[in-house]
Amino acid sequence: MSTRTPAHPRTSADTERLKLQPCTLVLFGASGDLAHRMVVPALFRLWRRGLLAPGFRLVGYARTKLDDAAFRDGMRKAVLEKARPGDEEAWPAFAERLGYITGQYEGDQAGYRQLAELFGQADESGATARRLFYLALPPKEFAPVIRQLAEAKLLGRSYQAPTDGWSRVIVEKPFGRDLASARELNAAIARDVDEHFVYRIDHYLGKEAAQNLFTLRFGNALFEPVWNRNYIDHVQITAAETLGVEGRGGYYETAGAMRDMVQNHLMQLMALVAIEPPDRWTSTAVRNEKVQVLQAVQRLEEDAICRDAVRGQYGPGTIDGAPVPGYRQEPGVDPHSMVETYAGLRLHIDNLRWAGVPFYLRAGKRLAARRTEIAIQFKPAPHTPFPVPDDAGGANTLVVEFAPNERLTLRVAGKAPGRGMLVTPVELAYCGASSGEKPPSAYENLLVDALVGDPTFFARADEVEASWAIIDPVLHHWEHEPELRFPNYESGSQGPLEGDAMVQRDERPWRDLA
Ligand code: BG6
Repeated sequence: MSTRTPAHPRTSADTERLKLQPCTLVLFGASGDLAHRMVVPALFRLWRRGLLAPGFRLVGYARTKLDDAAFRDGMRKAVLEKARPGDEEAWPAFAERLGYITGQYEGDQAGYRQLAELFGQADESGATARRLFYLALPPKEFAPVIRQLAEAKLLGRSYQAPTDGWSRVIVEKPFGRDLASARELNAAIARDVDEHFVYRIDHYLGKEAAQNLFTLRFGNALFEPVWNRNYIDHVQITAAETLGVEGRGGYYETAGAMRDMVQNHLMQLMALVAIEPPDRWTSTAVRNEKVQVLQAVQRLEEDAICRDAVRGQYGPGTIDGAPVPGYRQEPGVDPHSMVETYAGLRLHIDNLRWAGVPFYLRAGKRLAARRTEIAIQFKPAPHTPFPVPDDAGGANTLVVEFAPNERLTLRVAGKAPGRGMLVTPVELAYCGASSGEKPPSAYENLLVDALVGDPTFFARADEVEASWAIIDPVLHHWEHEPELRFPNYESGSQGPLEGDAMVQRDERPWRDLA
């Protein structure tokens, strides 16, 4: 693997492009958690990296009554909580770009009129002709807000953009709660906005580790020849968290692990591992391939669901030496809740490349360790002239790690120093952060992409529907057959025993979380 210092491909070219393109970002849900934790801090980092033009404006929009000063103050606290050197000094110039509108999302037109006035103002820089609407809102608000923006002629087919103007919308997850509602939502949005102006965000696609999969697979001659059923034994995709629901009990009760993590993040990662090489690097080519592979995932029939889909709910336990409550004791959670905080799937892809290769997916909260990774397990060497113990790396493992560190490792068999062919595992590692520069966050990457109009790392309508189609039968089955043994795993453990049983049947145990 390369040890060359990586260059962040977006930095220089996009600085120039964005400087040519001052724009206005309207952040719906601006008083909320996502805006404070993710969106505005990421915008501030872009500002500090010189990617946002001086004419850039950020307009917060929410129901909470605030004025510009209070909005700026709240954002200052949120952004500077994790300040890096120079951030304090840089804040005032960024804060000047921030404004706030108090408004309703539905019904009352006053807020939208204020927005229309703002966009109606002549602006030499062109910032008002280039608009990004970021919907950091609960999904029920997506379609009504888009409708209102279209009626105000600010977005979609009703917006007559001047040359060099555009109007795009970013939609947060969850995108629907099943296939039917996702289709409905897609159709509602499509009534007002063409698909190529809709950016469905999945922050996993913005992670450096996810994007690295493309360079690894398609930028090297080494991997493609072995990237198939002849050499790969199986794939494990894990998103294990030690955190619980962190005050989001109300939301989580409507979601569960399958909707919160598997339908979006894990399905996207599986698609990145499994896609056929796109012929060109265009958003259409890449997303077409993703849809193809998601559509090729074998549907789980009723009898397979009991075997190949598992769920769990955490009970009380210990994390990092401290006692933690069970899910049912979390604020906002029904004390008899049947919602899963762990979901596991065993999937197969029906195509020539992957026939017979299991993809194991698991996501869970309050597990033994924070570990998010894709592990590609290769088959053992077919013949070795000296003994290679099972744990010595002879069956190579390529691990794309997202957390706790973003890095790639390839485990191979190496020779232990000294006389004789004593085999020992060796890890070849590539760590993006080793260049000294902190890699951009997922939200930084995706915001830049949306600002330059590149939807490659956003989910297209048909992709979202294809991944709902995979899990819909499981959700349906679970709804009708409640799991009566909840809670079925202790906080701080490796997850429910049912999850282990699912992979042990194939004699392919989960990788240890510790
Ligand atoms: C979010 C989920 O999409 O992803 C959260 O709603 C989860 O429940 C989070 O904790 C995990 O993201 P990351 O980047 O910390 O792995």
